[in-house]
Amino acid sequence: MSKPCIYITRKIPGELLEPYKDTFEFHMWEKETEPVPHDVLLKEIAQADGLLCMLSDQIDEALLTEAPRLKIIANLAVGYDNIDLDAAKSRDIIVTNTPDVLTETTADLGFALLMATARRIVEASNYVQADQWENWAPYLLAGSDIHHKTIGIVGMGRIGEAIARRAKGFGMSVLYHNRSRKYEAEDELQATYVTMDHLLKEADFVISVVPLTSETNKMFDVGAFQKMKSTAIFINISRGATVDESALFEALQTKQIKAAGLDVFEKEPIRNDHPLMKLDNVICLPHIGSSSEETRTIMIKLCLENISAVMDGKQPKTQV
Ligand code: DGY
Repeated sequence: MSKPCIYITRKIPGELLEPYKDTFEFHMWEKETEPVPHDVLLKEIAQADGLLCMLSDQIDEALLTEAPRLKIIANLAVGYDNIDLDAAKSRDIIVTNTPDVLTETTADLGFALLMATARRIVEASNYVQADQWENWAPYLLAGSDIHHKTIGIVGMGRIGEAIARRAKGFGMSVLYHNRSRKYEAEDELQATYVTMDHLLKEADFVISVVPLTSETNKMFDVGAFQKMKSTAIFINISRGATVDESALFEALQTKQIKAAGLDVFEKEPIRNDHPLMKLDNVICLPHIGSSSEETRTIMIKLCLENISAVMDGKQPKTQV
């Protein structure tokens, strides 16, 4: 009997596939930094029993129509807005993601981005690099304090809670907004549930950690930025489409808010002519929330375990 065929849409380390070499036939797009072309994916998906894909791959109905054998889509991310879940469900294709294993790493990045934005770390490094440091001065590259300020966490899931724990270590007051109250987090982290309007008005740092859904699409719009303090710093580590980017640009340019740190964008990758890149009160990162060597390896292993479970007719660990 032929081995089940697993298609992997980006080059991943061969040694991670080694334990499964006798069980599966792996086909892999051999480039690490370039996405698989659509025509190649279409050809490969036609014979694939399992798919290990990236958050940058659009797995839509048209693609799934060409995948008669597919049993599992293992997404290398906690977010799965790149996958048409209804189309997968109607074909009995299981979808899995990588929650939990990336929580702390992504929260680290979120907090690092918050700190870098508040304390103008990138700007300061560029200043030294550009040989502009002539003298010390009292307000040279003065930023905003982080400690004892108020953070407003929008989306109190696992990553939101991990951010709240970091914020407590800095003596911050934690406000949050979520679809449902998180009583345990309120007790453990002294986090206060507030309405979205209250959070936007009171927070010194507003951080978006919400999944992208039809309700959260463009939730940070003109009205939201107008409600924020003029000293507020906006951080986004969720999905770019939760933000109306032209409203954010306007809010930053007119100093309606002070600064922004962004790991995600509506259309990724962005180029350096993106309007937000022109502002010096913005830090832009290339969607690296969960990107530590340790965590990415654990995420890949989890995807492979999920694929293996489904091929064995078992329940995968982290089905969406
Ligand atoms: C994910 O995995 O969905 C996040 O964007 C972390 O980078």
